[in-house]
Amino acid sequence: MCGIVGYVGYEDVKEIILSGLEKLEYRGYDSAGIAVINEDGVKVFKDKGRIANLRKIIDNNAKSNIGIGHTRWATHGVPNKINSHPHQSCSKRFTLVHNGIIENDEYLRSKYLKNVKFESNTDTETVVQLIQKFVDNGENVDLAIRHTMSEIKGSYALAILDNENPEIIYAAKNKSPLLVGIGKGFNMVGSDAMAMISLTNEFYELDDKEFIKITKDKIEIYTIYGNKVDKKSYKADIDTADIEKGVYPHYMMKEIEEQPFVVRRIMNEYSDDNGKPIVDKDILSDVKNSDKIYIIACGTSYHAGLVGKQLLEKIAQKPAEVIIASEFIYNMPLLSKKPLFLFISQSGETADCRAVLVKVKKMGYKTIALTNVKGSTLSREANHTLLLYAGPEIAVASTKAYTAQITVLSILSTLIYNSLGIDIFRELSIAANVMESLCDNADIYKDLAKEFLVGQRSCFYIGRHMDYFVCVEAALKLKEISYIQTEGFAAGELKHGTIALIEENTPVIAIITHESINLNTRSNIKEVKARGAKTLIISMKKISTDTDQIIVDNVHEILSPLVSIIPAQYLSYYAALQKGCDIDKPRNLAKSVTVE
Ligand code: F6R
Repeated sequence: MCGIVGYVGYEDVKEIILSGLEKLEYRGYDSAGIAVINEDGVKVFKDKGRIANLRKIIDNNAKSNIGIGHTRWATHGVPNKINSHPHQSCSKRFTLVHNGIIENDEYLRSKYLKNVKFESNTDTETVVQLIQKFVDNGENVDLAIRHTMSEIKGSYALAILDNENPEIIYAAKNKSPLLVGIGKGFNMVGSDAMAMISLTNEFYELDDKEFIKITKDKIEIYTIYGNKVDKKSYKADIDTADIEKGVYPHYMMKEIEEQPFVVRRIMNEYSDDNGKPIVDKDILSDVKNSDKIYIIACGTSYHAGLVGKQLLEKIAQKPAEVIIASEFIYNMPLLSKKPLFLFISQSGETADCRAVLVKVKKMGYKTIALTNVKGSTLSREANHTLLLYAGPEIAVASTKAYTAQITVLSILSTLIYNSLGIDIFRELSIAANVMESLCDNADIYKDLAKEFLVGQRSCFYIGRHMDYFVCVEAALKLKEISYIQTEGFAAGELKHGTIALIEENTPVIAIITHESINLNTRSNIKEVKARGAKTLIISMKKISTDTDQIIVDNVHEILSPLVSIIPAQYLSYYAALQKGCDIDKPRNLAKSVTVE
């Protein structure tokens, strides 16, 4: 959470930082700020609200060639102007932006900063005051920052300005992502490549506990002990068109409609010269040598993991267990003899997943990251990476990453052991075509959302078998962007308690794609209907009835989540749109959850 960007070079920095922050706004958007240094000293502009608001409050005094900026997802202290970043030390010499959480903030305040008057309620201010304190004690700036790094516990990506060294941006990283953007006559730091890609596509990835100094023509990277680090740069292959909305009103709509193309791209990326499915042989051998796969993930990626378990068990006959990352870390199940850990994460930066990765690596277990972001923290730290090739996912609500995760897992499963004898590329091609036709006929969802969802307080998705796993993802999509309280429920379980919540007109959306559970789910629909529910049925053509409102063309049942989620994504989109919600940036959320 939180995005930071810094630039030092020859151009006026204001627009560079603001547009960089706009690209990072998916990481948090409670408040935003920028600091620059010019002949009048440091100027800070910050406030609660979005970058658009920040633009309005920056005046001409912001002219400068060096600056840092921040977009915030509040952890310590409510989102207000005072708690917004940048924060300054008491003398105003140091100005700092931070992404992460300082866990020993109170301890540091009481040990070193008893006499310092704090302005904000943030943990971040402790960092900048500590740097000042160590400088006041006679340390040079480099040492003071490294000393501060050694004192703080927790996660941080920091960018720091020193009014007395106005040509340098200092930066540091631990657990939170930070890249250095390499330019000609300028250099940058940023939370991710997207913030810098319009100016450079060449980057250094930083490792934990590294300290950096950049000027317009020099980049110096050090360890926390002050030893110089030599790094190899890499080129990011992000197409700038991929991070623009183009003709779409929202990123979410763009990303929903990209899904069929993403499935086809994945088939292309995971095929050999003869067009046959292929996955890195070392990955396959590690998977085959394990006796159980532990899938670790959060949110939508966890929901993809639930489907992934089915694919691994039903296609590959490989036992799998899916565990929410933040639960695993404190409540580890009894592990099998030869476990393998598969981390599913669109961003590759999710702190809860990373905590598990660090733990299981220490225990000596093999790990795979299934992620959309090459070079992300999970990708760098896991033994292997399987990429999603979904292209940047910008809307906070995940759509194409979910279907991409399922697609890659289906290919992997057939390559482990194809017990069902599926021609996976053939079946995925059919699924991609069905996805495309669902997108081509998306008009119907506007009216259905109006009729069933707008104005409702709560909603249920029900389904059995794999449909149940799609229901939990469908429910998350609806609640997170439309704020309608929604639960995804195993259809047969409803009568064991939750059916008490069904009132006159409560919307109940059923997903039915598997022949084996068709009649049972339909009985459950009758039960809720008898209690006043308003029902909407999404079914697969071969088992549909004339009264089902949304009929999805047939695909192989095992791949049904790829297609049955699409109507649910559209219903969420249109419900949120008609309620006037901020679709791409729902309240209280951030795309990349980099704090535990
Ligand atoms: C919901 C959503 C989140 C993420 C979760 C994990 O639409 O996007 O639930 O799925 O925060 O993020 P990643 O996949 O980046 O680890």
